[in-house]
Amino acid sequence: MIEVVNLTKRYPGFTAVRDISFEVAKGEIVGFLGPNGAGKSTTMRILSGYLPPTSGTVRIAGFDVFEQSIQARSHIGYLPENTPMYHDMRVHEYLRYRAALKGVESSQIKERVGDVLEMCDLLEKERAIIGTLSKGQRQRVGLADAMVHDPDLLILDEPTIGLDPNQIRQVRELIKNLANRRTVLVSTHILPEVEIMCSRVIVIHKGRIRASDTADNLLKQHRSAGEVRLELDGQPENAKEILAAIKGVKDVSEKKLDSGALYQLRTDADSEPISAVLQAARDNHWQVQAIERKKPTLEDVFVDLTQGD
Ligand SMILES: Nc1ncnc2c1ncn2[C@@H]1O[C@H](COP(=O)(O)OP(=O)(O)OP(=O)(O)O)[C@@H](O)[C@H]1O
Ligand SMILES: [Mg+2]
Repeated sequence: MIEVVNLTKRYPGFTAVRDISFEVAKGEIVGFLGPNGAGKSTTMRILSGYLPPTSGTVRIAGFDVFEQSIQARSHIGYLPENTPMYHDMRVHEYLRYRAALKGVESSQIKERVGDVLEMCDLLEKERAIIGTLSKGQRQRVGLADAMVHDPDLLILDEPTIGLDPNQIRQVRELIKNLANRRTVLVSTHILPEVEIMCSRVIVIHKGRIRASDTADNLLKQHRSAGEVRLELDGQPENAKEILAAIKGVKDVSEKKLDSGALYQLRTDADSEPISAVLQAARDNHWQVQAIERKKPTLEDVFVDLTQGD
């Protein structure tokens, strides 16, 4: 559905996207992740045909975004980072206008607008002036706009920004329900959301692609794979050294508490050191107050992939 080959974008004095290539297949929901300034919005703008690349090609549904822009665009629903809107129009007028602009047949416009108003939970606000809407409501008008011509590809640049937790959940459900029928490329900074919603993740950093895989695989390959937290009563001597010597433990930090001590053990990818830790506790007559295994999260992977160069 999306084919990007050797795409580069140079702004005057700054290269935002450096020779990236990737594909998104029909029906995939792909999370597009990266820190501020990584090049996500730049890439999405190019994919949607709103910004010309410096070099490289983008095909959408087989059509070159710039040479066959009308055909390509008819497949794309794009939610930009800052939704430009006509603030003195009413919601339903705006959506009808946008639908007509995008080539929806006039006999179909009323129905399509009704559908997206419902999908985006905007029926109560259909007669409201856009300028009077809250930020989250405006964001949902942007989403309705992206979907109004029933495109088979959605390119959504931070669709949940400005939404409250209930609405975030609604938008997530909405995106998940589009799966199979539509292809989605979505950028977001909310990582737990990505794990739930996306079949694959592309991580971009400083204009280059750092990873492209399922969240599960990224978690498996993650270097500093896990952490064990151990809380002991009292402050036994040498506990730190004993814990550090356990197989699979990479390093240990120690924190003295009022009546005990807390140890954080960073562990290797595939080690399960809990039983060894408990054995060490028995051997040394430590009183264990609590022990907990913390699995790596997508956030750990993200930090790992996008720190430094
Ligand atoms: N018109 C421009 N002229 C010069 N530099 C620009 C221009 N637009 C963007 N940039 C730079 O390109 C880089 C990538 O910007 P982009 O908006 O693509 O990042 P992003 O990944 O979407 O970040 P965020 O998470 O903050 O939205 C940034 O360093 C930005 O300052
Ligand atoms: Mg951005």
